[in-house]
Amino acid sequence: MTPTLKQIRHSIRAATCAPEPEVLDALLTAGTLSGARREAIRQQSIDLVERCRAKSHKAGTLDAFLHEFGLSNNEGIALMCLAEALLRVPDEETADRLIAEKIHSGDWGAHKGRSASRFVNASVWGLMLTGRVVGLDEEITGDTASWVRRLVNSLGEPVVRQAMMQAMRIMGSQYVLGRTIEEGLKNGLADNPSGTLFSLDMLGEGARTEADAGRHFDAYTAAIRTISNTENDAPVAGANGISLKLSALHPRYEFRQKRRVMAELLPRVRELALQARKAGLGFTVDAEESDRLDLSMEIFESLARDPELAGWDGLGFVLQAYLKRCHLVADWLIALARETDHSFMVRLVKGAYWDGEIKHAQQQGLADYPVFTRKCHSDVSYQVCAERLLAAQDVIYPQFATHNAYTVALVQELVSEDHAFEFQRLHGMGHLLFDEILEKSPDTTVRVYAPVGNHKDLLPYLVRRLLENGANSSFVNRFLDAEVPTGELLRDPVEEARSQPLGRHPQIPLPGELYAGETSPWPNARGIDLADPLDVANLLDTLVGAAAKPWQSAPIVGGEWLEGKQREIRNPAASDTVVGKVVEADDAAIEQALQRAT
Ligand code: FAD
Ligand code: 2OP
Repeated sequence: MTPTLKQIRHSIRAATCAPEPEVLDALLTAGTLSGARREAIRQQSIDLVERCRAKSHKAGTLDAFLHEFGLSNNEGIALMCLAEALLRVPDEETADRLIAEKIHSGDWGAHKGRSASRFVNASVWGLMLTGRVVGLDEEITGDTASWVRRLVNSLGEPVVRQAMMQAMRIMGSQYVLGRTIEEGLKNGLADNPSGTLFSLDMLGEGARTEADAGRHFDAYTAAIRTISNTENDAPVAGANGISLKLSALHPRYEFRQKRRVMAELLPRVRELALQARKAGLGFTVDAEESDRLDLSMEIFESLARDPELAGWDGLGFVLQAYLKRCHLVADWLIALARETDHSFMVRLVKGAYWDGEIKHAQQQGLADYPVFTRKCHSDVSYQVCAERLLAAQDVIYPQFATHNAYTVALVQELVSEDHAFEFQRLHGMGHLLFDEILEKSPDTTVRVYAPVGNHKDLLPYLVRRLLENGANSSFVNRFLDAEVPTGELLRDPVEEARSQPLGRHPQIPLPGELYAGETSPWPNARGIDLADPLDVANLLDTLVGAAAKPWQSAPIVGGEWLEGKQREIRNPAASDTVVGKVVEADDAAIEQALQRAT
Protein backbone atom coordinates (compact mmCIF):
# COMPACT_ATOMS: atom_id res chain seq x y z
CA MET A 1 0.00 0.00 0.00
CA THR A 2 1.33 3.46 -0.90
CA PRO A 3 2.07 5.41 2.27
CA THR A 4 0.11 8.62 2.79
CA LEU A 5 1.82 12.00 2.96
CA LYS A 6 1.26 11.99 6.69
CA GLN A 7 2.93 8.61 7.07
CA ILE A 8 5.91 9.76 4.99
CA ARG A 9 6.20 12.89 7.12
CA HIS A 10 6.30 10.69 10.19
CA SER A 11 9.02 8.43 8.72
CA ILE A 12 11.04 11.51 7.81
CA ARG A 13 10.84 12.82 11.34
CA ALA A 14 11.70 9.43 12.80
CA ALA A 15 14.73 9.11 10.51
CA THR A 16 16.27 12.48 11.44
CA CYS A 17 19.13 11.04 13.48
CA ALA A 18 18.77 7.37 12.49
CA PRO A 19 21.80 5.08 12.96
CA GLU A 20 24.06 5.58 9.95
CA PRO A 21 24.76 1.88 9.17
CA GLU A 22 21.00 1.19 8.93
CA VAL A 23 20.38 4.11 6.59
CA LEU A 24 23.38 3.20 4.49
CA ASP A 25 22.22 -0.41 4.17
CA ALA A 26 18.82 0.74 2.98
CA LEU A 27 20.41 3.06 0.42
CA LEU A 28 22.84 0.45 -0.87
CA THR A 29 19.90 -1.90 -1.35
CA ALA A 30 17.82 0.78 -3.06
CA GLY A 31 20.49 1.84 -5.59
CA THR A 32 20.04 0.07 -8.89
CA LEU A 33 23.32 0.76 -10.68
CA SER A 34 25.32 -2.35 -11.52
CA GLY A 35 29.07 -2.53 -10.90
CA ALA A 36 29.69 -2.25 -14.65
CA ARG A 37 27.66 0.93 -14.94
CA ARG A 38 29.37 2.44 -11.93
CA GLU A 39 32.73 1.65 -13.48
CA ALA A 40 31.60 3.33 -16.72
CA ILE A 41 30.66 6.43 -14.69
CA ARG A 42 34.08 6.43 -13.07
CA GLN A 43 35.83 6.19 -16.42
CA GLN A 44 33.69 9.01 -17.82
CA SER A 45 34.53 11.21 -14.88
CA ILE A 46 38.25 10.46 -15.14
CA ASP A 47 38.11 11.47 -18.78
CA LEU A 48 36.27 14.67 -17.86
CA VAL A 49 38.79 15.59 -15.17
CA GLU A 50 41.72 14.92 -17.48
CA ARG A 51 40.22 17.19 -20.10
CA CYS A 52 39.71 19.91 -17.50
CA ARG A 53 43.22 19.51 -16.12
CA ALA A 54 44.59 20.09 -19.59
CA LYS A 55 42.92 23.51 -19.45
CA SER A 56 43.66 24.29 -15.84
CA HIS A 57 45.31 27.60 -16.76
CA LYS A 58 41.75 28.84 -17.24
CA ALA A 59 40.88 28.25 -13.61
CA GLY A 60 39.74 31.25 -11.57
CA THR A 61 41.48 33.59 -9.16
CA LEU A 62 40.38 31.69 -6.13
CA ASP A 63 42.36 28.65 -7.15
CA ALA A 64 45.44 30.85 -7.49
CA PHE A 65 44.78 32.37 -4.11
CA LEU A 66 44.32 29.03 -2.42
CA HIS A 67 47.46 27.79 -4.02
CA GLU A 68 49.50 30.78 -2.92
CA PHE A 69 48.27 31.08 0.65
CA GLY A 70 47.44 27.50 1.55
CA LEU A 71 44.46 27.93 3.82
CA SER A 72 45.51 25.25 6.23
CA ASN A 73 48.35 27.40 7.53
CA ASN A 74 48.29 30.24 10.01
CA GLU A 75 49.26 32.90 7.51
CA GLY A 76 46.39 32.04 5.21
CA ILE A 77 43.94 32.15 8.07
CA ALA A 78 45.24 35.45 9.40
CA LEU A 79 45.18 37.01 5.97
CA MET A 80 41.65 35.84 5.49
CA CYS A 81 40.63 37.50 8.73
CA LEU A 82 42.09 40.81 7.75
CA ALA A 83 40.59 40.57 4.35
CA GLU A 84 37.22 39.94 5.90
CA ALA A 85 37.57 43.21 7.83
CA LEU A 86 38.68 44.97 4.69
CA LEU A 87 35.58 43.76 2.98
CA ARG A 88 33.57 46.30 4.90
CA VAL A 89 35.71 49.28 3.91
CA PRO A 90 34.04 51.36 1.22
CA ASP A 91 36.95 53.05 -0.61
CA GLU A 92 40.48 52.15 -1.61
CA GLU A 93 42.23 54.92 0.27
CA THR A 94 40.65 53.96 3.55
CA ALA A 95 41.37 50.31 2.83
CA ASP A 96 45.04 51.08 2.25
CA ARG A 97 45.19 53.06 5.46
CA LEU A 98 43.53 50.27 7.35
CA ILE A 99 46.16 47.82 6.14
CA ALA A 100 48.95 50.23 6.97
CA GLU A 101 47.55 50.83 10.42
CA LYS A 102 46.96 47.20 11.19
CA ILE A 103 50.28 46.02 9.91
CA HIS A 104 52.46 48.90 11.11
CA SER A 105 51.11 49.98 14.41
CA GLY A 106 50.92 46.45 15.64
CA ASP A 107 47.83 47.47 17.56
CA TRP A 108 46.34 44.00 17.26
CA GLY A 109 48.29 43.09 20.33
CA ALA A 110 47.44 46.34 22.08
CA HIS A 111 43.70 45.82 21.61
CA LYS A 112 43.91 42.71 23.68
CA GLY A 113 40.16 42.10 23.86
CA ARG A 114 39.49 42.84 20.24
CA SER A 115 42.53 41.16 18.85
CA ALA A 116 41.74 38.11 20.89
CA SER A 117 38.31 37.91 19.34
CA ARG A 118 39.84 38.49 15.95
CA PHE A 119 41.88 35.39 16.50
CA VAL A 120 39.09 33.43 18.04
CA ASN A 121 37.62 34.30 14.71
CA ALA A 122 40.79 33.04 13.13
CA SER A 123 40.51 29.64 14.71
CA VAL A 124 36.91 29.44 13.55
CA TRP A 125 38.12 30.24 10.09
CA GLY A 126 40.71 27.56 10.60
CA LEU A 127 38.09 25.05 11.57
CA MET A 128 35.94 25.96 8.67
CA LEU A 129 38.61 26.23 6.08
CA THR A 130 40.59 23.17 6.91
CA GLY A 131 37.82 20.96 8.20
CA ARG A 132 39.70 20.46 11.49
CA VAL A 133 40.31 22.45 14.60
CA VAL A 134 43.56 24.29 14.03
CA GLY A 135 45.15 25.17 17.30
CA LEU A 136 46.75 28.48 16.32
CA ASP A 137 50.31 28.71 17.51
CA GLU A 138 50.69 30.38 20.83
CA GLU A 139 52.98 32.94 19.22
CA ILE A 140 49.95 34.24 17.34
CA THR A 141 47.39 34.27 20.10
CA GLY A 142 49.91 35.29 22.74
CA ASP A 143 51.81 37.99 20.91
CA THR A 144 49.90 38.77 17.78
CA ALA A 145 51.65 42.07 17.17
CA SER A 146 55.14 40.68 16.93
CA TRP A 147 53.91 37.73 14.89
CA VAL A 148 52.41 40.11 12.35
CA ARG A 149 55.54 42.24 12.34
CA ARG A 150 57.60 39.18 11.65
CA LEU A 151 55.20 38.12 8.93
CA VAL A 152 55.59 41.52 7.29
CA ASN A 153 59.35 41.40 7.67
CA SER A 154 59.67 37.98 6.17
CA LEU A 155 57.24 38.52 3.31
CA GLY A 156 57.68 42.24 2.82
CA GLU A 157 54.95 44.78 3.23
CA PRO A 158 54.03 45.05 -0.47
CA VAL A 159 53.44 41.30 -0.62
CA VAL A 160 51.19 41.43 2.40
CA ARG A 161 49.29 44.39 0.99
CA GLN A 162 49.01 42.63 -2.31
CA ALA A 163 47.70 39.56 -0.57
CA MET A 164 45.16 41.59 1.36
CA MET A 165 43.91 43.32 -1.70
CA GLN A 166 43.83 40.06 -3.60
CA ALA A 167 41.92 38.36 -0.83
CA MET A 168 39.53 41.26 -0.67
CA ARG A 169 38.96 41.31 -4.39
CA ILE A 170 38.36 37.61 -4.42
CA MET A 171 35.97 37.78 -1.54
CA GLY A 172 34.05 40.62 -3.06
CA SER A 173 33.67 39.31 -6.53
CA GLN A 174 34.44 35.63 -6.83
CA TYR A 175 31.08 34.37 -5.67
CA VAL A 176 28.78 37.32 -6.09
CA LEU A 177 27.39 38.18 -9.49
CA GLY A 178 26.91 41.85 -8.68
CA ARG A 179 26.04 44.31 -5.96
CA THR A 180 22.73 45.15 -7.57
CA ILE A 181 20.44 43.10 -9.70
CA GLU A 182 21.19 45.26 -12.74
CA GLU A 183 24.94 44.88 -12.28
CA GLY A 184 24.45 41.15 -11.71
CA LEU A 185 22.51 40.68 -14.92
CA LYS A 186 25.13 42.62 -16.87
CA ASN A 187 27.98 40.54 -15.41
CA GLY A 188 26.06 37.31 -15.81
CA LEU A 189 25.41 37.90 -19.47
CA ALA A 190 28.99 39.00 -20.11
CA ASP A 191 30.63 36.04 -18.33
CA ASN A 192 28.53 33.17 -19.64
CA PRO A 193 27.61 31.68 -22.99
CA SER A 194 24.34 33.03 -24.34
CA GLY A 195 21.38 30.95 -23.28
CA THR A 196 22.78 30.38 -19.77
CA LEU A 197 19.97 30.31 -17.23
CA PHE A 198 20.26 31.91 -13.82
CA SER A 199 18.69 31.41 -10.46
CA LEU A 200 19.20 34.66 -8.61
CA ASP A 201 19.70 34.63 -4.89
CA MET A 202 19.47 37.92 -3.03
CA LEU A 203 22.24 37.63 -0.43
CA GLY A 204 20.95 37.59 3.10
CA GLU A 205 20.00 34.92 5.57
CA GLY A 206 19.39 34.41 9.24
CA ALA A 207 17.59 37.76 9.60
CA ARG A 208 18.14 39.06 13.10
CA THR A 209 15.43 41.70 13.12
CA GLU A 210 12.13 42.43 11.50
CA ALA A 211 13.83 45.33 9.70
CA ASP A 212 16.36 42.90 8.15
CA ALA A 213 13.54 40.62 7.08
CA GLY A 214 11.71 43.55 5.50
CA ARG A 215 14.83 44.64 3.64
CA HIS A 216 15.32 41.11 2.26
CA PHE A 217 11.67 40.90 1.24
CA ASP A 218 11.98 44.18 -0.67
CA ALA A 219 15.17 42.97 -2.37
CA TYR A 220 13.38 39.86 -3.61
CA THR A 221 10.39 41.86 -4.82
CA ALA A 222 12.70 44.16 -6.76
CA ALA A 223 14.63 41.23 -8.21
CA ILE A 224 11.48 39.48 -9.38
CA ARG A 225 10.30 42.68 -11.03
CA THR A 226 13.64 43.21 -12.77
CA ILE A 227 14.08 39.73 -14.22
CA SER A 228 10.43 39.27 -15.07
CA ASN A 229 9.94 36.87 -17.93
CA THR A 230 6.51 37.90 -19.10
CA GLU A 231 7.58 38.95 -22.59
CA ASN A 232 8.96 35.79 -24.11
CA ASP A 233 6.48 33.51 -22.37
CA ALA A 234 9.04 30.71 -21.99
CA PRO A 235 8.08 27.70 -19.87
CA VAL A 236 9.32 28.13 -16.36
CA ALA A 237 12.07 25.49 -16.71
CA GLY A 238 13.51 27.49 -19.58
CA ALA A 239 13.40 30.81 -17.75
CA ASN A 240 15.52 32.43 -15.09
CA GLY A 241 14.44 31.89 -11.53
CA ILE A 242 14.73 33.03 -7.95
CA SER A 243 16.32 31.16 -5.04
CA LEU A 244 15.01 32.12 -1.67
CA LYS A 245 16.38 31.54 1.82
CA LEU A 246 13.43 31.48 4.20
CA SER A 247 15.66 32.49 7.10
CA ALA A 248 16.16 35.83 5.36
CA LEU A 249 12.48 36.65 5.64
CA HIS A 250 11.78 36.14 9.33
CA PRO A 251 13.89 36.63 12.44
CA ARG A 252 12.33 33.66 14.24
CA TYR A 253 12.26 31.02 11.51
CA GLU A 254 12.56 28.12 13.91
CA PHE A 255 10.43 25.16 14.92
CA ARG A 256 9.71 26.53 18.41
CA GLN A 257 8.00 29.48 16.75
CA LYS A 258 5.98 27.38 14.35
CA ARG A 259 2.68 29.15 14.92
CA ARG A 260 4.27 32.54 14.35
CA VAL A 261 6.18 31.29 11.36
CA MET A 262 3.03 29.97 9.71
CA ALA A 263 1.14 33.16 10.53
CA GLU A 264 3.85 35.64 9.55
CA LEU A 265 6.49 34.04 7.32
CA LEU A 266 4.16 31.93 5.16
CA PRO A 267 2.21 34.97 3.86
CA ARG A 268 5.51 36.64 2.87
CA VAL A 269 6.72 33.58 1.01
CA ARG A 270 3.33 33.18 -0.62
CA GLU A 271 3.38 36.79 -1.75
CA LEU A 272 6.79 36.32 -3.38
CA ALA A 273 5.68 33.04 -4.98
CA LEU A 274 2.65 34.81 -6.47
CA GLN A 275 4.89 37.55 -7.79
CA ALA A 276 7.25 34.96 -9.29
CA ARG A 277 4.35 33.15 -10.92
CA LYS A 278 3.12 36.38 -12.44
CA ALA A 279 6.62 37.18 -13.66
CA GLY A 280 7.07 33.72 -15.24
CA LEU A 281 10.00 32.77 -12.99
CA GLY A 282 10.88 29.58 -11.15
CA PHE A 283 10.78 29.97 -7.39
CA THR A 284 13.02 27.71 -5.33
CA VAL A 285 13.18 27.45 -1.57
CA ASP A 286 16.85 26.87 -0.70
CA ALA A 287 17.70 24.21 1.86
CA GLU A 288 19.31 25.55 5.03
CA GLU A 289 20.14 23.97 8.39
CA SER A 290 18.74 20.51 9.07
CA ASP A 291 16.59 21.70 11.95
CA ARG A 292 14.71 24.02 9.61
CA LEU A 293 13.75 21.23 7.23
CA ASP A 294 10.46 20.29 8.88
CA LEU A 295 9.27 23.90 8.88
CA SER A 296 10.34 24.42 5.27
CA MET A 297 8.29 21.35 4.29
CA GLU A 298 5.30 22.75 6.15
CA ILE A 299 5.59 26.01 4.24
CA PHE A 300 6.21 24.30 0.92
CA GLU A 301 3.16 22.08 1.38
CA SER A 302 1.02 25.15 2.10
CA LEU A 303 2.23 26.73 -1.13
CA ALA A 304 1.55 23.52 -3.05
CA ARG A 305 -2.02 23.46 -1.71
CA ASP A 306 -2.67 27.15 -2.31
CA PRO A 307 -5.47 27.60 -4.87
CA GLU A 308 -3.75 30.69 -6.33
CA LEU A 309 -0.64 28.66 -7.08
CA ALA A 310 -2.56 25.68 -8.47
CA GLY A 311 -1.31 24.17 -11.72
CA TRP A 312 1.95 26.12 -11.61
CA ASP A 313 5.23 24.30 -12.42
CA GLY A 314 7.46 26.93 -10.87
CA LEU A 315 7.59 25.76 -7.24
CA GLY A 316 11.02 24.46 -6.34
CA PHE A 317 12.48 22.63 -3.35
CA VAL A 318 16.05 21.61 -2.51
CA LEU A 319 17.10 18.16 -1.32
CA GLN A 320 20.33 17.76 0.66
CA ALA A 321 21.76 14.29 0.08
CA TYR A 322 23.93 14.48 3.21
CA LEU A 323 20.78 14.27 5.34
CA LYS A 324 20.02 10.74 6.45
CA ARG A 325 16.33 11.34 5.68
CA CYS A 326 16.93 12.81 2.21
CA HIS A 327 15.56 9.85 0.21
CA LEU A 328 12.37 9.97 2.26
CA VAL A 329 11.98 13.69 1.60
CA ALA A 330 12.30 12.84 -2.11
CA ASP A 331 9.41 10.37 -1.70
CA TRP A 332 7.38 13.02 0.08
CA LEU A 333 7.94 15.60 -2.66
CA ILE A 334 6.88 13.14 -5.33
CA ALA A 335 3.77 12.16 -3.37
CA LEU A 336 2.93 15.81 -2.68
CA ALA A 337 3.32 16.72 -6.34
CA ARG A 338 0.95 13.91 -7.33
CA GLU A 339 -1.60 14.77 -4.67
CA THR A 340 -1.64 18.49 -5.49
CA ASP A 341 -1.34 18.13 -9.28
CA HIS A 342 1.90 20.02 -9.54
CA SER A 343 5.19 19.43 -11.25
CA PHE A 344 7.96 20.57 -8.90
CA MET A 345 11.45 21.75 -9.69
CA VAL A 346 13.74 19.80 -7.37
CA ARG A 347 17.38 20.78 -6.91
CA LEU A 348 19.49 17.93 -5.61
CA VAL A 349 22.62 18.99 -3.70
CA LYS A 350 24.87 17.30 -1.17
CA GLY A 351 24.50 20.07 1.39
CA ALA A 352 26.49 23.11 2.41
CA TYR A 353 26.20 23.06 6.21
CA TRP A 354 27.99 19.81 7.07
CA ASP A 355 30.52 21.18 9.56
CA GLY A 356 27.85 23.20 11.32
CA GLU A 357 25.52 20.20 11.56
CA ILE A 358 28.22 18.06 13.15
CA LYS A 359 29.13 20.74 15.66
CA HIS A 360 25.50 21.51 16.45
CA ALA A 361 24.65 17.85 17.17
CA GLN A 362 27.68 17.62 19.46
CA GLN A 363 26.80 20.79 21.34
CA GLN A 364 23.20 19.68 21.76
CA GLY A 365 24.20 16.17 22.81
CA LEU A 366 21.84 14.64 20.24
CA ALA A 367 21.44 10.87 19.98
CA ASP A 368 23.19 10.89 16.59
CA TYR A 369 23.90 13.21 13.67
CA PRO A 370 21.28 14.30 11.13
CA VAL A 371 23.97 14.07 8.42
CA PHE A 372 26.17 11.24 7.26
CA THR A 373 29.67 11.21 8.67
CA ARG A 374 31.41 9.77 5.61
CA LYS A 375 31.53 11.69 2.37
CA CYS A 376 30.92 8.56 0.27
CA HIS A 377 27.64 7.98 2.15
CA SER A 378 26.39 11.38 1.02
CA ASP A 379 27.42 10.37 -2.50
CA VAL A 380 25.48 7.09 -2.28
CA SER A 381 22.48 9.02 -1.01
CA TYR A 382 22.83 11.44 -3.94
CA GLN A 383 22.78 8.52 -6.35
CA VAL A 384 19.65 6.98 -4.85
CA CYS A 385 17.84 10.32 -4.74
CA ALA A 386 18.83 11.08 -8.34
CA GLU A 387 17.35 7.75 -9.41
CA ARG A 388 14.16 8.48 -7.48
CA LEU A 389 13.69 11.92 -8.96
CA LEU A 390 14.34 10.70 -12.49
CA ALA A 391 11.85 7.87 -12.05
CA ALA A 392 9.15 10.47 -11.27
CA GLN A 393 9.61 12.62 -14.33
CA ASP A 394 5.84 13.06 -14.70
CA VAL A 395 5.87 15.33 -11.64
CA ILE A 396 9.50 16.30 -11.03
CA TYR A 397 11.89 18.46 -13.02
CA PRO A 398 15.27 17.49 -11.49
CA GLN A 399 18.06 20.04 -11.16
CA PHE A 400 21.39 18.42 -10.37
CA ALA A 401 23.58 20.92 -8.56
CA THR A 402 27.20 19.83 -8.18
CA HIS A 403 30.76 20.69 -9.09
CA ASN A 404 31.92 17.08 -8.88
CA ALA A 405 32.80 15.36 -12.16
CA TYR A 406 31.79 11.94 -10.82
CA THR A 407 28.35 13.24 -9.86
CA VAL A 408 27.96 14.83 -13.29
CA ALA A 409 28.94 11.56 -14.97
CA LEU A 410 26.51 9.72 -12.69
CA VAL A 411 23.64 11.90 -13.85
CA GLN A 412 24.66 11.54 -17.48
CA GLU A 413 24.61 7.76 -17.06
CA LEU A 414 21.19 7.81 -15.34
CA VAL A 415 19.30 10.03 -17.76
CA SER A 416 17.77 8.83 -20.96
CA GLU A 417 16.74 10.84 -23.98
CA ASP A 418 13.24 11.61 -22.74
CA HIS A 419 14.36 13.01 -19.42
CA ALA A 420 13.99 16.73 -18.94
CA PHE A 421 16.59 17.89 -16.43
CA GLU A 422 19.28 20.47 -15.86
CA PHE A 423 22.63 20.89 -14.16
CA GLN A 424 23.29 23.77 -11.83
CA ARG A 425 26.52 25.34 -10.70
CA LEU A 426 27.32 28.20 -8.37
CA HIS A 427 28.56 31.48 -9.79
CA GLY A 428 32.34 31.51 -9.31
CA MET A 429 32.64 27.74 -9.26
CA GLY A 430 32.53 24.89 -11.75
CA HIS A 431 33.11 27.09 -14.78
CA LEU A 432 35.83 24.91 -16.23
CA LEU A 433 33.93 21.69 -15.64
CA PHE A 434 30.71 22.85 -17.25
CA ASP A 435 32.47 24.56 -20.16
CA GLU A 436 33.96 21.17 -20.91
CA ILE A 437 30.58 19.43 -20.58
CA LEU A 438 28.93 21.96 -22.87
CA GLU A 439 31.68 21.58 -25.41
CA LYS A 440 30.97 17.87 -25.67
CA SER A 441 27.18 18.01 -25.17
CA PRO A 442 26.03 21.49 -26.23
CA ASP A 443 22.37 20.69 -25.60
CA THR A 444 22.91 20.29 -21.88
CA THR A 445 21.05 22.87 -19.80
CA VAL A 446 23.23 24.53 -17.18
CA ARG A 447 21.80 27.02 -14.74
CA VAL A 448 24.01 29.31 -12.67
CA TYR A 449 23.02 30.02 -9.08
CA ALA A 450 23.95 33.66 -8.76
CA PRO A 451 24.04 35.59 -5.50
CA VAL A 452 23.46 39.31 -5.77
CA GLY A 453 24.00 41.79 -2.98
CA ASN A 454 26.25 43.70 -0.71
CA HIS A 455 29.41 42.75 1.08
CA LYS A 456 27.75 43.05 4.44
CA ASP A 457 25.39 40.20 3.63
CA LEU A 458 28.07 38.06 2.06
CA LEU A 459 29.86 36.50 4.99
CA PRO A 460 27.89 33.30 5.78
CA TYR A 461 27.59 32.46 2.11
CA LEU A 462 31.28 33.18 1.57
CA VAL A 463 32.31 31.02 4.50
CA ARG A 464 30.41 28.07 3.05
CA ARG A 465 32.13 28.55 -0.30
CA LEU A 466 35.59 28.84 1.25
CA LEU A 467 34.89 25.76 3.28
CA GLU A 468 33.89 23.86 0.21
CA ASN A 469 37.02 24.97 -1.59
CA GLY A 470 39.33 24.56 1.36
CA ALA A 471 38.20 21.19 2.74
CA ASN A 472 40.26 18.33 1.42
CA SER A 473 37.21 16.04 1.44
CA SER A 474 35.77 18.24 -1.23
CA PHE A 475 36.12 17.42 -4.92
CA VAL A 476 36.84 20.99 -5.99
CA ASN A 477 39.72 21.22 -3.54
CA ARG A 478 41.71 18.54 -5.38
CA PHE A 479 40.14 18.68 -8.80
CA LEU A 480 42.98 20.52 -10.55
CA ASP A 481 45.83 19.32 -8.36
CA ALA A 482 47.93 17.28 -10.77
CA GLU A 483 49.58 15.57 -7.79
CA VAL A 484 46.31 13.82 -6.97
CA PRO A 485 45.93 10.90 -9.38
CA THR A 486 42.52 10.85 -11.04
CA GLY A 487 42.04 7.25 -9.90
CA GLU A 488 42.30 8.41 -6.30
CA LEU A 489 40.13 11.49 -6.81
CA LEU A 490 37.35 9.58 -8.53
CA ARG A 491 36.26 6.55 -6.62
CA ASP A 492 33.03 4.61 -6.78
CA PRO A 493 31.15 5.70 -3.62
CA VAL A 494 29.29 2.40 -3.41
CA GLU A 495 32.57 0.44 -3.31
CA GLU A 496 34.04 2.94 -0.90
CA ALA A 497 31.04 2.71 1.41
CA ARG A 498 31.17 -1.08 1.39
CA SER A 499 34.88 -1.10 2.14
CA GLN A 500 34.30 0.28 5.62
CA PRO A 501 32.17 -2.20 7.58
CA LEU A 502 31.56 0.17 10.51
CA GLY A 503 29.05 2.10 8.42
CA ARG A 504 30.11 5.44 9.89
CA HIS A 505 33.24 7.54 10.24
CA PRO A 506 35.57 5.94 12.79
CA GLN A 507 36.97 9.31 13.86
CA ILE A 508 33.70 11.13 14.36
CA PRO A 509 32.28 9.75 17.62
CA LEU A 510 28.57 9.84 18.31
CA PRO A 511 27.66 13.10 20.08
CA GLY A 512 27.15 11.25 23.37
CA GLU A 513 30.62 9.70 23.11
CA LEU A 514 32.46 12.89 22.37
CA TYR A 515 34.60 12.63 25.51
CA ALA A 516 34.96 8.86 25.55
CA GLY A 517 38.56 9.17 24.41
CA GLU A 518 39.64 11.45 27.26
CA THR A 519 41.99 10.16 29.96
CA SER A 520 39.07 10.28 32.38
CA PRO A 521 36.18 9.82 29.99
CA TRP A 522 32.69 11.14 30.68
CA PRO A 523 29.45 11.02 28.73
CA ASN A 524 28.44 14.18 26.88
CA ALA A 525 25.24 15.62 28.36
CA ARG A 526 22.20 14.45 26.43
CA GLY A 527 20.13 17.34 25.12
CA ILE A 528 16.54 17.62 24.05
CA ASP A 529 16.26 18.85 20.50
CA LEU A 530 13.66 21.58 20.61
CA ALA A 531 13.67 21.72 16.82
CA ASP A 532 12.74 18.06 16.50
CA PRO A 533 8.97 17.58 16.33
CA LEU A 534 9.13 14.08 17.83
CA ASP A 535 11.49 15.09 20.64
CA VAL A 536 9.27 18.06 21.38
CA ALA A 537 6.12 15.91 21.32
CA ASN A 538 7.74 13.54 23.84
CA LEU A 539 8.78 16.43 26.00
CA LEU A 540 5.29 17.93 25.91
CA ASP A 541 3.75 14.55 26.80
CA THR A 542 6.05 14.34 29.77
CA LEU A 543 5.16 17.88 30.76
CA VAL A 544 1.44 17.24 30.48
CA GLY A 545 1.82 14.01 32.48
CA ALA A 546 3.81 15.85 35.11
CA ALA A 547 1.34 18.71 35.26
CA ALA A 548 -1.54 16.28 35.81
CA LYS A 549 0.07 14.96 38.99
CA PRO A 550 -0.97 16.64 42.24
CA TRP A 551 2.56 17.67 43.34
CA GLN A 552 3.00 18.16 47.05
CA SER A 553 6.02 19.19 48.98
CA ALA A 554 6.77 19.78 52.61
CA PRO A 555 9.77 19.78 54.93
CA ILE A 556 10.89 16.29 55.89
CA VAL A 557 12.55 16.05 59.26
CA GLY A 558 13.72 12.74 60.58
CA GLY A 559 12.02 11.03 57.67
CA GLU A 560 8.64 12.52 58.49
CA TRP A 561 6.60 14.94 56.41
CA LEU A 562 5.65 17.86 58.55
CA GLU A 563 2.16 19.27 58.50
CA GLY A 564 1.54 22.97 58.08
CA LYS A 565 -0.15 25.66 56.08
CA GLN A 566 -0.21 24.77 52.38
CA ARG A 567 0.53 27.34 49.67
CA GLU A 568 -0.29 26.94 45.97
CA ILE A 569 2.55 27.01 43.47
CA ARG A 570 1.65 28.34 40.03
CA ASN A 571 3.29 27.86 36.68
CA PRO A 572 5.35 31.02 36.15
CA ALA A 573 4.65 30.85 32.42
CA ALA A 574 0.87 30.45 32.90
CA SER A 575 -0.10 31.83 36.25
CA ASP A 576 -3.66 30.46 36.19
CA THR A 577 -2.28 26.91 36.39
CA VAL A 578 -1.62 25.46 39.80
CA VAL A 579 1.21 22.95 39.56
CA GLY A 580 1.26 21.86 43.21
CA LYS A 581 1.14 22.76 46.84
CA VAL A 582 3.93 23.41 49.26
CA VAL A 583 4.27 23.58 53.00
CA GLU A 584 7.16 25.88 53.84
CA ALA A 585 9.37 25.06 56.80
CA ASP A 586 8.48 27.26 59.77
CA ASP A 587 10.77 28.22 62.67
CA ALA A 588 9.75 25.17 64.67
CA ALA A 589 10.54 22.81 61.79
CA ILE A 590 13.94 24.40 61.28
CA GLU A 591 14.71 24.19 64.97
CA GLN A 592 13.65 20.55 65.02
CA ALA A 593 15.90 19.79 62.04
CA LEU A 594 18.85 21.63 63.57
CA GLN A 595 18.46 19.74 66.83
CA ARG A 596 18.49 16.44 65.03
CA ALA A 597 21.50 17.51 63.01
CA THR A 598 23.35 18.56 66.14
P1 FAD B 1 31.64 17.08 -3.44
O1 FAD B 1 33.05 17.43 -3.20
O2 FAD B 1 31.35 15.83 -4.15
O3 FAD B 1 30.86 17.03 -2.07
C1 FAD B 1 31.19 17.81 -0.97
C2 FAD B 1 30.04 17.63 -0.03
O4 FAD B 1 30.03 16.32 0.52
C3 FAD B 1 30.07 18.54 1.17
O5 FAD B 1 29.59 19.84 0.87
C4 FAD B 1 29.13 17.80 2.08
O6 FAD B 1 27.79 18.02 1.73
C5 FAD B 1 29.47 16.37 1.80
N1 FAD B 1 30.46 15.86 2.76
C6 FAD B 1 31.75 16.26 2.94
N2 FAD B 1 32.33 15.57 3.92
C7 FAD B 1 31.42 14.71 4.38
C8 FAD B 1 31.43 13.71 5.39
N3 FAD B 1 32.51 13.46 6.13
N4 FAD B 1 30.30 13.00 5.60
C9 FAD B 1 29.19 13.23 4.87
N5 FAD B 1 29.12 14.16 3.89
C10 FAD B 1 30.22 14.88 3.65
N6 FAD B 1 23.56 23.52 -0.41
C11 FAD B 1 22.58 23.62 0.50
O7 FAD B 1 22.75 23.15 1.63
N7 FAD B 1 21.40 24.23 0.18
C12 FAD B 1 21.16 24.74 -1.05
O8 FAD B 1 20.08 25.27 -1.29
C13 FAD B 1 22.17 24.63 -2.03
N8 FAD B 1 22.01 25.11 -3.28
C14 FAD B 1 22.99 24.91 -4.22
C15 FAD B 1 22.81 25.33 -5.53
C16 FAD B 1 23.76 25.06 -6.48
C17 FAD B 1 23.54 25.48 -7.88
C18 FAD B 1 24.95 24.36 -6.13
C19 FAD B 1 25.99 24.01 -7.14
C20 FAD B 1 25.16 23.99 -4.84
C21 FAD B 1 24.19 24.26 -3.87
N9 FAD B 1 24.38 23.89 -2.57
C22 FAD B 1 23.38 24.00 -1.65
C23 FAD B 1 25.73 23.65 -2.11
C24 FAD B 1 26.05 22.25 -2.21
O9 FAD B 1 25.48 21.58 -1.15
C25 FAD B 1 27.55 22.15 -2.20
O10 FAD B 1 28.00 22.85 -3.31
C26 FAD B 1 27.87 20.75 -2.32
O11 FAD B 1 27.69 20.14 -1.09
C27 FAD B 1 29.20 20.43 -2.88
O12 FAD B 1 28.93 19.23 -3.52
P2 FAD B 1 29.66 18.75 -4.79
O13 FAD B 1 28.87 17.65 -5.37
O14 FAD B 1 29.94 19.89 -5.68
O15 FAD B 1 31.06 18.34 -4.19
C1 2OP C 1 24.40 28.22 0.02
O1 2OP C 1 23.87 29.29 0.34
C2 2OP C 1 24.29 27.63 -2.35
O2 2OP C 1 22.37 27.66 -1.04
C3 2OP C 1 23.72 27.41 -1.03
O3 2OP C 1 25.46 27.81 0.49
